[in-house]
Amino acid sequence: MSAFPQADPERLWSTLQTMAALSEPGGGVTRLAYTRLERAAHEQFAAWMSDTGCEVRVDSAGNTIATRPGRNDGPAVGTGSHLDSVYHGGRFDGIAGTMAAVEVARLLHESGTVTELPLRFVAFAAEEGARFGQACCGSKLAAGLSARAELDERRDRDGISLADAMRSVGIDPDRAAASAWDPGEWSAFVELHVEQGSVLETARVDVGVVDLISGSTRIELTVLGQASHTGGTPMRGRADALAAAAEAVLIAERLALDPRHRGTRASVGRMVVEPGSITTIPGRVTFSLDVRDVDADRQRLAVAEIVARLRAACLRRGTRLEARLLADTSAVVLPDWVRNEVTAAATELALPYRVLTSGASHDAQMVNRVVPTAMIFVPSRHGLSHVPEEWTEPAQLAVGTDLLAASMLRLDARAAMLAAESATTGGAA
Ligand code: GLV
Ligand code: MN
Ligand code: MN
Repeated sequence: MSAFPQADPERLWSTLQTMAALSEPGGGVTRLAYTRLERAAHEQFAAWMSDTGCEVRVDSAGNTIATRPGRNDGPAVGTGSHLDSVYHGGRFDGIAGTMAAVEVARLLHESGTVTELPLRFVAFAAEEGARFGQACCGSKLAAGLSARAELDERRDRDGISLADAMRSVGIDPDRAAASAWDPGEWSAFVELHVEQGSVLETARVDVGVVDLISGSTRIELTVLGQASHTGGTPMRGRADALAAAAEAVLIAERLALDPRHRGTRASVGRMVVEPGSITTIPGRVTFSLDVRDVDADRQRLAVAEIVARLRAACLRRGTRLEARLLADTSAVVLPDWVRNEVTAAATELALPYRVLTSGASHDAQMVNRVVPTAMIFVPSRHGLSHVPEEWTEPAQLAVGTDLLAASMLRLDARAAMLAAESATTGGAA
């Protein structure tokens, strides 16, 4: 059993509640990507991290990175998650991981622990795809995976581009690519997150270790029909855009339920009906389709099949279909050696764990492109997430944080050992 101090559930809880208060009014937490409220959350994170003796900087994508020096310079072990939310979301998604990072830094500071190499604690900007369609904007830039043009192309429901949203909070989109990480500065990364599913709750296990993160393809579909009088227009021969769009919802559901698609999730989460009048047949309906899968080919084939079936339905109904790609990400397999360090840390702490797959997207899947990454999950009550009812017990958050701290210390020791070996073999290791 490690002598490292345990996380304080009450302190973690009050840290989390302070973040929850940074929200738009209305149900749940609304703290959207690249808004003043998200920046305020980053400033709060920066202040807490400075109090633990870390050196804090905000990179050119708006990610906040706190560094705690080690005994020697060298590649750092990192942790972190995001501080933005969906519309009317919960208190835990993203926040659990960033608050766990704050708690680990506090425990290190209070116990006077000196690690072999530096540690870094990161709050990523704009993880949620809820506003712009694209998920993980800050970590995608950190991974060097975003083209400048994307920042102009991705727009929110009010037509504001990602680039303009960045400018509105003082971030220069033309400089955002400079945030790309140098892989040589990192040895490993571990993100803690709430599960957003019910595997851990069902198994009555407090921590999960992720093997695979689902990908997602998101498109915006527009059905164009003919608006007209609901009383004067006969039922036959109508070009009702909403009736066609309703078919899309059911086509997507039916396809994802087909046994050949076991594991595909397809959802229409947003629909705008125009002109939106009780007495006018809808002439135009715009809606989103989000298809997620752990199999990238099946994910894209599912989207193509849904669009093809819908196009046929639209033709039958005398309407026209337009489709526009919003975002497209493949599933990511996390490297087993980092996961093995996390599971070894769980064994050291005598914590039962479960290895499981993530249905949601995470910064970890972007970070893993440049730094070998692991993920720790803590349970979500009733599997609920992206809703105000999202809940994780403070004691479960604390257990996850203990595992995070122990994993980081193991990974730090491993990185230092490899650095020492490399030094004695003249860098050939
Ligand atoms: C992030 O929570 C996602 O939408 O997967
Ligand atoms: Mn999240
Ligand atoms: Mn989320």
